[in-house]
Amino acid sequence: MQRVLGVGVIGFGTIGTGVVRLLRSEERKLRERLGAWLRLVRIADIDLERDRGVNVPREILTRDANEIIGAPDVDIVVELIGGYEPARSFVVEALRRGKCVVTANKALLATHGSEIFPAAEKAGVPLGFEASVGGGIPIVRTLRDGLVGDRVRAIYGIVNGTSNYILSEMTRERASFEEVLSRAQAQGLAEADPTYDVDGIDAAHKLCLLIQLAFGRRVPFRDIPVEGIRHVTTVDLQYASELGYAIKLLAIAKLHGTQVEARVAPTMIPQEHVLSDVNGAYNGIVVQGDALGQTFYYGLGAGMMPTATAVLADIVDAARFLLGETKRIPHPLGYPWNQQRQAKLVAPDSVESEFYLRMSLADRPGVLAQVAGILGREKVSIATMVQQGRQQNGWVPVVMRTHRARAGQVRRALQKIVQTKVVRGKPVVLRIEEELGKEAA
Ligand code: HSE
Repeated sequence: MQRVLGVGVIGFGTIGTGVVRLLRSEERKLRERLGAWLRLVRIADIDLERDRGVNVPREILTRDANEIIGAPDVDIVVELIGGYEPARSFVVEALRRGKCVVTANKALLATHGSEIFPAAEKAGVPLGFEASVGGGIPIVRTLRDGLVGDRVRAIYGIVNGTSNYILSEMTRERASFEEVLSRAQAQGLAEADPTYDVDGIDAAHKLCLLIQLAFGRRVPFRDIPVEGIRHVTTVDLQYASELGYAIKLLAIAKLHGTQVEARVAPTMIPQEHVLSDVNGAYNGIVVQGDALGQTFYYGLGAGMMPTATAVLADIVDAARFLLGETKRIPHPLGYPWNQQRQAKLVAPDSVESEFYLRMSLADRPGVLAQVAGILGREKVSIATMVQQGRQQNGWVPVVMRTHRARAGQVRRALQKIVQTKVVRGKPVVLRIEEELGKEAA
């Protein structure tokens, strides 16, 4: 008789439906590989009426998630409702009761990780979260296991499919942010409330987890500087392309000794780098290691079936643990929680990079010299400068690319430039990751 391992799913939404489908379609293979049966014994959701396109016996459906957490025949609890509460309570209670837990909830782990990771260790059960970053891309395992022998120096991730889709379409169609967003919402490609995606919050949640996996250090989510894509214009996408760059919402983390540089921001990256070809709803993550050098992970970071594969991988890991194949209690992050150190963040002003600046300047003799002089006094050196387009009522657009400079110097210079009144409106500032992936070289 094969052993039966009970799986209970909380949240019968898109990913939950994908998980049910894979448990069905891969049932035979999984039985062969595990020598046990992964049996879907219960699904909880507040909506039991909606047709999800999969047949499940009525008797396994419940509106009460506690029926899953408390059920003796559920060995593996899969949390797919997202958000903070009641997801946090369900996960904590499931762990307390000694259930293995699988979750796709990056917001929860990024903000309540210091409660949840130790709770899993205390319970001595696996806590899988592969689906929380990069959807179907196995980046959690890669950082935790595959790259454990290397010293990871930097991570550059396009980890939010919605914002990547919007930026790609804006570039392709020369359409505004608002236009592309509303079309994406109409097609169900963006949420009705797109805040988490387009304001960089979702990417920052994921970055928080990537930093812990890669560097063994914790950066509190609230300390990560986050900038979204609402202010990115087609004009800047066009200039970027002419200068040989793409603009991507990047989640970046670099290790400098014991300090971590981290941020989420629209960033210019060289067109010749593979990351600039990550378009549409795809995700792409570049990891820079001392020994291995650069590796690149690419795939669908969201969606029913891609994300469900990551959930299944964690369910199978939990099953292997329950079957005694892996004896040691697995640490969710790959090391004991008490070995994790709080990272000191590099002060945003002292982070160095090249910069793209665009401003509308008064078209008068001496204005460019004045602007260049202010930048020079702050030790910001101009690499290229383009004055393009037509004069509009006495104002001309000027685009500059700087040499490597500290963010604080650029910030101070721009403050002074704005005070001179030779500039109209707010200058646009974007970082250029010229050195993308060369950190360890
Ligand atoms: N909303 C996310 C994205 C998917 O757009 O990439 C889930 O992480």
